[in-house]
Amino acid sequence: MDTQVAIIGAGPAGLLLAHLLQRAGIESMVLEARTREYVEHRVRAGVLEQGTVDVLTETGVGDRLHREGMVHRGLELRFGGRGHRIALSDLAGGRAITVYGQQEVVKDLIAARLEAGGELRFEAEATAIEDLDGDRPVVRLASGEELGCAVVAGCDGFHGVSRAAAPDGALAVYERVYPFAWLGILARAAPSSEELIYAHHDRGFALHSMRSPEITRLYLQVAPDDELEAWPDERIWEELQTRMATRDGAFALNEGEIFERGIAPMRSFVAEPMRHGRLFLAGDAAHIVPATGAKGLNLAVADVRVLARALRAFFERGDEAELDAYSDRCLRRVWRVQHFSWWMTQMLHRLDANDPFEGKLQRSQLEYVVRSEAAARTLAENYVGLELEDV
Ligand code: FAD
Ligand code: PHB
Repeated sequence: MDTQVAIIGAGPAGLLLAHLLQRAGIESMVLEARTREYVEHRVRAGVLEQGTVDVLTETGVGDRLHREGMVHRGLELRFGGRGHRIALSDLAGGRAITVYGQQEVVKDLIAARLEAGGELRFEAEATAIEDLDGDRPVVRLASGEELGCAVVAGCDGFHGVSRAAAPDGALAVYERVYPFAWLGILARAAPSSEELIYAHHDRGFALHSMRSPEITRLYLQVAPDDELEAWPDERIWEELQTRMATRDGAFALNEGEIFERGIAPMRSFVAEPMRHGRLFLAGDAAHIVPATGAKGLNLAVADVRVLARALRAFFERGDEAELDAYSDRCLRRVWRVQHFSWWMTQMLHRLDANDPFEGKLQRSQLEYVVRSEAAARTLAENYVGLELEDV
């Protein structure tokens, strides 16, 4: 088998890259280890930045997103039993976020790929990448087949094979693992608020989000080694009710059947550079952010926008300058987003219970963010997403 760009992974990064390349007349083949059913139903992120919405819209895959997605112009920070609205759009030049499930983005991109007749293979696991230092790398598949190409795009997530294909010592790794995880659920219940609520509580962080007028998405900070078995439905609701309650008793959290649940670790991770020879890493293959900033998916989209543009210069004009600049260009945004995600995480979670000094700092920070327009603006402009050029 042979193609111009071998794309490993059909998550948001790999699928959007294939879509952007197709529109530029560049051939690619997407290899995905899992089934179509699996990737279309994997529940993960839900917040799309303005820039993410714009690129999906401009390239013809935004119709359902505009019909079903929920545009949000603010969010709530809740602490000390009180809610405080951050007016995202007013503070960030009119930009907004859209709540639309990651798996819906994935479904839309798969449909577009298949409709355009592009190559997309499910249950096609890449096991190795060879000859990265030459101009004809080869991807080996578990089936025994091999795919020759000019460029490999490693879009296979944090646990994929791409990053490991760079030789030992070629990539520097920066990492922080947090001493907590998130238990996430989907419930058949109407959202209890029109906007997202990020709640800081002595018992730990809680987040109220949504997927539709009938479905609520909720998260709880839990111990990193907690198992789902330790969290029966009653315990989940009790903990959510406690952490989200307001002092005036006015907030009512709607409950309903829990039909999806999972525990995700919280980690910050960056591998540098995001390139080795003819291999380019994008999305979670290169970096992970804790979900508190709602950035993982958006960062993956930003990477492949830069990569698609660079590949266009390479295939159309033989110009390698943009490919050479790819890693540096992406890493500026990656580190901005790393800082923002870390900042939101340390401001909102229960940290070391034995360190009251830290708790006082957190509270002071939260109060400053809701009182100072400058501080609120910092949150808002990062949350809705900085323009590609502004990072
Ligand atoms: P992925 O979506 O991980 O896609 C990689 C694809 O590569 C997968 O389909 C995988 O099956 C495939 N693959 C892996 N290895 C191979 C191989 N060897 N050969 C072929 N294919 C392979 N972000 C938020 O903002 N909010 C959240 O609530 C949130 N929750 C998350 C929960 C979990 C459990 C995880 C893992 C992530 C979560 N994220 C969240 C982060 C966000 O979902 C990711 O940043 C986003 O999925 C990145 O997209 P990607 O395309 O880079 O990687
Ligand atoms: C979600 O809706 O899944 C979501 C929202 C905000 C976050 C993380 C996840 O920070």
